[in-house]
Amino acid sequence: MAENGSGSDDVKATFREIYRRLKAELLGDPAFDFTDESRQWIDRMLDYNVPGGKLNRGISVVDSYKLLKEENQLSEDEVFHACALGWCIEWLQAYFLVLDDIMDNSHTRRGQLCWFRVPKVGLIAANDGIILRNHIPRILKRHFKGKPYYVDLLDLFNEVEFQTASGQMLDLITTHEGEKDLSKYTLPVYRRIVQYKTAYYSFYLPVACALLMSGENLDNFVDVKNILVEMGTYFQVQDDYLDCFGDSDFIGKIGTDIEDYKCSWLVVQALEHANESQKELLYVNYGKSDPACVAKVKSLYKDLNLENVFSEYESTSYAKLISSIEAQPSKAVQEVLKSFLHKIYKRQK
Ligand code: IPE
Ligand code: MN
Ligand code: MN
Repeated sequence: MAENGSGSDDVKATFREIYRRLKAELLGDPAFDFTDESRQWIDRMLDYNVPGGKLNRGISVVDSYKLLKEENQLSEDEVFHACALGWCIEWLQAYFLVLDDIMDNSHTRRGQLCWFRVPKVGLIAANDGIILRNHIPRILKRHFKGKPYYVDLLDLFNEVEFQTASGQMLDLITTHEGEKDLSKYTLPVYRRIVQYKTAYYSFYLPVACALLMSGENLDNFVDVKNILVEMGTYFQVQDDYLDCFGDSDFIGKIGTDIEDYKCSWLVVQALEHANESQKELLYVNYGKSDPACVAKVKSLYKDLNLENVFSEYESTSYAKLISSIEAQPSKAVQEVLKSFLHKIYKRQK
């Protein structure tokens, strides 16, 4: 749609410019007496972990706010604030990813080594994650304290962070349980994990930020939240599919779901479609780091035609989402939701 058209490069450039400003402010935060060495560490850590992604979540705050504003024309100050909130989400994401890669024992992210694998970083990455997380309230205090929606914003970030960390816990403890019994990997179990670990922070949070900036009360947007959680679930199904079938050079990360025994959408579907001997093959080979075992699982996924099952799922989810979006009373809200959906539909990365 228009939001993905000619204007979007401009928005991205402005958005990036504001990253540089926020970083400079954090590097001069008077609450900490930086040494040259510590300032350089944070500078490099931020550049490595914060701005290198697709920036979909962050830019969606700006796009959504524009669509909610009717007039469509934002003042310089409004652009700055929408971008700053967008960057807070990117910071939140960086914090979760730095820690997620340690826990998932991943190798690469966004086309480079995972931060904890960089020489001389190692487990300092755990504290860097904590610092990334702490930068969010620093940014919010500097730029939003005094706004009528400041407290709601803090509550929102706190609640969504809690939900995401709880989702990560579910992801990790389910994996642990599954190692004894793959039959625990069912669709309701899967949906619960991804709703919490991915959907709230990736989909609800950007739109909720734009709504707060527009002076709205989030209690009046429960339907919108439910649609965004559904969209986030669809997004994580894509992530799980790409983990196995995507082009790792293009997506910038090497999949580890099979090795890690993850309750991935693919293994849930495989269990649902497999006969007894195929199930046996999964039980024997799933969750092993041996490349021969991984290859057997992948070839079973191919035999079970999971590529087609996925493409069916993709079309059905899209149609369902569009119809619930079109049932929304506000045209502006419909546009916000559609613009988000079109950013991710049939994505390859
Ligand atoms: C990560 O889920 C979700 C969060 C970081 C909160 P995954 O572990 O499935 O994501 P990737 O595949 O490593 O990006
Ligand atoms: Mn991961
Ligand atoms: Mn994970």
